[in-house]
Amino acid sequence: MASKPEVDLKTSFCGLEFRNPIVVAAGVHGRDGETMAEVARCGVAAVCTKTIVSRPAPDVLPCFVQAGPGMLNAVFGSDRSAEYWFGEGIKRAREGGARVIANLAGFSPEESAQLAERAVAAGAEMIELPTHCPHMGEILNALYPGLNYPEPKLTDVAPMQAAVRLIKRAVKAPVVVKLSGTFAHIVREWALGVKEAGADGIACADAFGPGLSIDVATGQPRLGGPRGVGGLTGAGIRPLALRMVLDIALTVDLPILGVGGVGSARDAVEYLMAGATLVGVCTAGHMNGAARYAKIISELGGLLGRLGYADAASARGLALARIRERRERGRTAVTSPVPAVVEEGLCTACGRCPEVCAYDAIHLPAGGKARVQAERCIGCGLCVSVCPVDCIRQAYYEASSKP
Ligand SMILES: Cc1cc2nc3c(=O)[nH]c(=O)nc-3n(C[C@H](O)[C@H](O)[C@H](O)COP(=O)(O)O)c2cc1C
Repeated sequence: MASKPEVDLKTSFCGLEFRNPIVVAAGVHGRDGETMAEVARCGVAAVCTKTIVSRPAPDVLPCFVQAGPGMLNAVFGSDRSAEYWFGEGIKRAREGGARVIANLAGFSPEESAQLAERAVAAGAEMIELPTHCPHMGEILNALYPGLNYPEPKLTDVAPMQAAVRLIKRAVKAPVVVKLSGTFAHIVREWALGVKEAGADGIACADAFGPGLSIDVATGQPRLGGPRGVGGLTGAGIRPLALRMVLDIALTVDLPILGVGGVGSARDAVEYLMAGATLVGVCTAGHMNGAARYAKIISELGGLLGRLGYADAASARGLALARIRERRERGRTAVTSPVPAVVEEGLCTACGRCPEVCAYDAIHLPAGGKARVQAERCIGCGLCVSVCPVDCIRQAYYEASSKP
């Protein structure tokens, strides 16, 4: 039998070629050049520095805690100096063979432009400008008493636009603005605003929150800092960040680097389908080790192939097309239930579907496979989403063909 053709993972983003869509997003694996080079050797397309700032600060401790299906962190930016990054760090990072993104933040638009110019001169191939993290003002003010770091008016895109304009004048490298989860409700306005200023792309999202976790043995917030709060990342934020990416894709035609809760090839494909071109991974690499990046890349080709795609680009934006179809076919508010159907040959009798069915419509007879009582099924869809082997179907929209 002829073997299936390999899926082409090569990806173009902001005029640059990437060997695949997977990027190590700013985080612990962007803490210094050596670490970046090491994770680059896992095969990722690009590695991103932690946020380079002119006034680096040590982290308030403890700074990480696992919380629910995610992680809280109270970190600020890179604790390495700008001199380190521009003298040695970026050069070292490039030795890993992946593209190097400099994530940086000035305390003013002018300072951002100076940092960007130095980063590009040092070898950075793309600039990423982060927006305000949910915990940042509080932590900065605790670190630097008297700084009075203002909580920015999040709706005010003007300072970011000023930074983008100055950086675009100073460097030829693409400039990408990274929205934090704090911007979840104003993502469209920001997408339009940064496009107007000349940004080449948008990355989305950084952390959500801030959130809190308490040690019940002591009553202590588990993180350091004034209230012990931190930004939420990891699997728990994926649906929110994914929705933000979709909203950006529906609003502007800028390329998107989707980030947030990606831990598997399937998660990455969700981002491609929501309109992302590159997909960032941070917490999953932190919590499971750098080998997770390689696993996602190696499984991505297989998954895209099974889904019928010859390359990563072909999967991009499928959800946007599906949303359009819903509108065109008058299927935006379906209210007639389609009962779930179990493909018995695939069912492993794990018992998960009867557990979640609040309508008593699905049962697992002793020694048998899951069985739906169609007259009781209200067509809610929950069993479909919890089935670990994808053996439950509801044909609400399946008549649509691939775009
Ligand atoms: C420990 C940690 C440190 C981070 N540091 C930065 C940073 O310096 N700059 C930045 O823009 N984002 C930073 N992020 C945000 C990530 O790049 C990413 O946007 C976010 O964690 C969501 O992706 P994830 O769910 O895959 O972690 C950090 C995240 C974590 C968990």
